[in-house]
Amino acid sequence: MDRTTLPEPPGPRGRAFRNVFHRARDTTGMFADFKRRYGDIVMYRLLWKRFCVIFDPFLSEEVVIGKRDRFQKGTEQKKLLDLCIITAEGDEHLRRRKLVQPSFTPKAIRGYAGQMVGEAERTRSGWHDGQVIDIDEVASELSLAIAARTFFGDDISVTTRDVHDSLDGYRWRALVGLLPFSNFFWSLPLPRNRRARRGMRRLDDAIGDAVRRARANSERTDLIAHLVNARDDEAVFSPFTDGELAAEAFAILITGHHTVATTLTFALYHLSRSPAVRRRMERETDDVLGGRLPSFDDFAKLTYTGAVVDETLRITPPTAYLGRTAVEDVVIGDFRIPRGTVVQPSIRVPMREERFFTDPDRFMPERWLEVPQPKRPRFAYAPFGTGDRFCSGFRFALLELVFSLAVFCQRWRIDVISDEFPAVVDMVIYRCKDGLPARVHSRPEQAA
Ligand code: HEM
Repeated sequence: MDRTTLPEPPGPRGRAFRNVFHRARDTTGMFADFKRRYGDIVMYRLLWKRFCVIFDPFLSEEVVIGKRDRFQKGTEQKKLLDLCIITAEGDEHLRRRKLVQPSFTPKAIRGYAGQMVGEAERTRSGWHDGQVIDIDEVASELSLAIAARTFFGDDISVTTRDVHDSLDGYRWRALVGLLPFSNFFWSLPLPRNRRARRGMRRLDDAIGDAVRRARANSERTDLIAHLVNARDDEAVFSPFTDGELAAEAFAILITGHHTVATTLTFALYHLSRSPAVRRRMERETDDVLGGRLPSFDDFAKLTYTGAVVDETLRITPPTAYLGRTAVEDVVIGDFRIPRGTVVQPSIRVPMREERFFTDPDRFMPERWLEVPQPKRPRFAYAPFGTGDRFCSGFRFALLELVFSLAVFCQRWRIDVISDEFPAVVDMVIYRCKDGLPARVHSRPEQAA
């Protein structure tokens, strides 16, 4: 059919202002309401911009795989980050992806395992019986500490606070960038601007230092050294320049941090609410590890813990939806999507659908141990995305999550204090709004 005669997807008329507030307050609720009222593909507006959210995994695959040449990465990410693997398009994206992949091969990941376990152990050894902790804060600090060690190596003095302050600084700079007269605003000597600049400088210096050390010693195995030494085997693409390395290291850091921290927070929340699951996971860590700390080879043996992570990513995925901008008019399903529309394939909604998962609202890690797995479209379970932008750091994330859970649960039971599902912020990355208080108890078997 001629694409000009096709209708645009259905959706609420007007509401351009109301949608801005609704989406900022409760994206999940707004999307649930859209799906109920309009179906699997819904067009809506935020101010003057058109958005189109897609809930059907087959239509999402059309966007992300089948017709990917008609789309570019969403404008939201492009506003927040410089040119890097996350924002690059076409051959430039391919080049950066090839150069980033050596940092995440199984061999490279093996090299990070000790640092991940060491930081998780350091966290757990700071607790005492009956202590109240904020799981969200613990998960965030742990993921920053692991990033500081694995990105820079053990001999560069980057503290968790340095990484925190610099990410905070970059986020502030990005927010300022969205304002009219942003350069003027950024040049003002406001305390918030000065703090942001200090944080950003600290990270830039640390990355510069790590790059220099990697150039001087080709044996280094930290993540930045992998980026420095990365070469395209077919010699089509040139290696990273120093300026590109800084942007790339920062982009990977910011992409990997909240996603892992949020998944760990929610895994601990689900475990606390599912005592039978938690007992089974504890038995597995006892059987596999027998009281010692995990090493890389234990990862493949901690299958139930892996299933707990897979199930957490299904039921509370940190990334709610992807973002792609149509570079020309394009047909998706039976609808015409006009050029410039930001299309949002939903990751969250298909993972809670009965047609793909039995009893979809129940936290049931066992479902991932079934062999063979029920046949599902690719986008029905895509917490790490799919296609040519599939998450580069998925192995890193899974290793960090499985080891953190195993190390915590070897020694402690972590019980959330309130049974209420925590309040969340759900703009792009889903995360707790006001923390997640919990009490740690020494495991009875361990205390005996
Ligand atoms: C549970 C944790 C994580 C989740 C759920 C997650 C999810 C995702 C998703 C959905 C995408 C695809 C974005 C798109 O198609 O537009 C992505 C891309 C990416 N992720 Fe992750 N991620 C996680 C952890 C990490 C970690 C730990 C790192 C690195 C340390 C990382 C690095 C990247 C990079 C570099 C990309 C861009 C790939 C490209 O555009 O070619 N991620 N991630």
